[in-house]
Amino acid sequence: MLIRNRRLRTNEAIRSLVRETSLSPNDFIVPLFVVEGKNVKEEIASMPNYFRFSLDLLEKEVKELWQMGLKSVLVFVKVPDNLKDNEGTEALNKEGLMQRAIKTIKNAVPEMLVMTDVALDPYSSYGHDGIVENGEILNDPTTKVLAKMALSHVKAGADFVAPSDMMDGRILAIRETLEENNFHKSGIMSYSAKYASAFYGPFRDALDSAPGFGDKKTYQMDPANREEAIKETIMDIEEGADIVMVKPGLCYLDIVRDIRNAVDVPVAVYQVSGEYAMIKAASEKGWLDHDAVMLEQLLSIKRAGAHMIASYFAKDAVKLL
Ligand code: PBG
Repeated sequence: MLIRNRRLRTNEAIRSLVRETSLSPNDFIVPLFVVEGKNVKEEIASMPNYFRFSLDLLEKEVKELWQMGLKSVLVFVKVPDNLKDNEGTEALNKEGLMQRAIKTIKNAVPEMLVMTDVALDPYSSYGHDGIVENGEILNDPTTKVLAKMALSHVKAGADFVAPSDMMDGRILAIRETLEENNFHKSGIMSYSAKYASAFYGPFRDALDSAPGFGDKKTYQMDPANREEAIKETIMDIEEGADIVMVKPGLCYLDIVRDIRNAVDVPVAVYQVSGEYAMIKAASEKGWLDHDAVMLEQLLSIKRAGAHMIASYFAKDAVKLL
């Protein structure tokens, strides 16, 4: 034999020299769940060791993240039921929980990159990402609200808005609104290829945002489709997205690679709540090695083509790196 591939696997020194992919704290965006109240740190039942924080404890949490080298967060809020309606009115409240959370984070750690979720579902009495009329999710009236919501977030200090709703034309609506209001530096990370996935269950527990009727298949993508993901993503870039995203992660790594090859903007992947829950549950039973499986999945997401990963494992992973 002239060629023996095992020569390059002989020991850790040579393996690390030829390693093609690596993980670092720079790769992660940390999702944060925020609730009203004081001194609240509640564990999410279906997401062991992941918490909702009130603003006072959020401040501590982001300081800790920054010290660990985690420099980007993605903020979600749990909206009290009495503030929910069909139009997501509360989303535009200057003193709303999201707007206060943005200020809290920026006060605590001014350099932290603050990305915010832009979608109606946490604010919607129907738990949908759009305004509902006769059982239908309206597109154009929803994008108008999303644009106002994005403007309200950047006014409060958000660096990036992250529309997770999948309405058509929302990136253009948001971009035009930001430009018209002189927020030229504000970024948009678009959930471009977001699938109608069953892996979002624990997240909907975290925010109490499960759809009250039906499902999200008229706006989120069909898991059967691959070509369509490229079309969605290219349209979002043309409408002004700075970063595009594929979501969920693990089941969609073929899409991640397709998109990485097709576009020249940074690609984010969201390793979603169900992916987190699976690893937690199996390792609690002693069936999987938690840390090893976690790192293998994160590395695989990166190898598939992700420039960055939104992950509930960010802290766990960074502690091991
Ligand atoms: C909704 C939204 C969802 C997630 C992020 N934003 C759920 C959904 O579409 O129903 C899921 C994230 C996760 O599961 O971790 N706008």
